[in-house]
Parts: sequence; C-alpha cells; structure tokens
Amino acid sequence: MQHAICYISTATREFGNSEIEDLFNAWKERNKKEQIQGILLYSEGHFFQVLEGERTAVLALFNKINKDARHSGIIQVLGKDIQKGSLDGYITEHITSRNFSRPELIESYCESVKGMDSRTQQQIKAILDSFLDTQVL
Ligand SMILES: Cc1cc2nc3c(=O)[nH]c(=O)nc-3n(C[C@H](O)[C@H](O)[C@H](O)COP(=O)(O)O)c2cc1C
Repeated sequence: MQHAICYISTATREFGNSEIEDLFNAWKERNKKEQIQGILLYSEGHFFQVLEGERTAVLALFNKINKDARHSGIIQVLGKDIQKGSLDGYITEHITSRNFSRPELIESYCESVKGMDSRTQQQIKAILDSFLDTQVL
C-alpha cells in the first residue's frame, strides 16, 4: 500500500546554502534507494515536505524525521494511504528571495503531484500555497 505524508516544520538553527544542499542531496540518495518520492523545500527557516512511497518505508522514515533535532514544531497536515504511486521523482529546493517568486518553480511542484488523486493534490497545493505565502510576509 502506498502512503503519503505532508508536514511543515521549523529549523532549530540556521542552515547555510551549501549545508542545505549537501543534506538534501544525501537524503535524496537515501530516498531513491527506498523508492520514496516527494518534495522537500527549505525557505527562511522552514521546511515543507511531502513523502510518498511504500507505507512501511514512509512511516519508518517519518518516525526518524520526527525525532530529528534539526527541526521542531512539526505540523503534519496530511497522512493517508493512497491508491496510485503518483509522485514524479524527488524535488528539493532551497527557496531564496532570488528564486522565490519564479512561477515555474511552483508550477513544477504542482506538476510532480499530478498523479495523485485530486483531493490529495488539492490538499497539498493548498498547504504549499500557504507555505510559500507565509514566506513573503
Ligand atoms: C526536515 C527534514 C527532512 C528530512 N528528510 C529526509 C528524507 O527525505 N530522507 C532521509 O533519508 N532523511 C531525511 N531526514 C533525515 C532523517 O531525520 C535522518 O537523520 C536520516 O534519515 C538518517 O537516519 P539514520 O539515523 O538512519 O542514519 C530529514 C531531516 C529533516 C530535519
């Protein structure tokens, strides 16, 4: 059974550009091996993540992520079994003021969840919208 989780959280310290890049690349590799797909964004001290894959693997990973001291205030906004293996790859992005408002970036995040059922897609898009919105304030 496929499972999808989406959460937002707050970094417990500041991360530099190259540090975030290194971490994201390492996690991307691990997820590839576990056949976990998703989206991971870092913007102004906040994380947004969508994880999708085999239920056991996703729950085991989320359990680890939950205990990770590099972030806190984890708010899980989605956690459900899904029918289709539906995310296309694993997108990671460090959103800075430079790339923040590039509409094609947001388009590409939405594109990557197109295979999911429409209700889940809507939920993820709504959360993503408010995550990105919050960052401009
Ligand atoms: C915001 C955030 C997102 C993370 N996302 C992933 C991820 O997608 N894949 C992954 O393997 N580890 C991720 N991690 C790291 C895990 O919490 C954990 O440190 C890592 O999987 C190593 O686990 P280990 O204890 O088995 O070595 C994330 C950590 C944080 C703080």
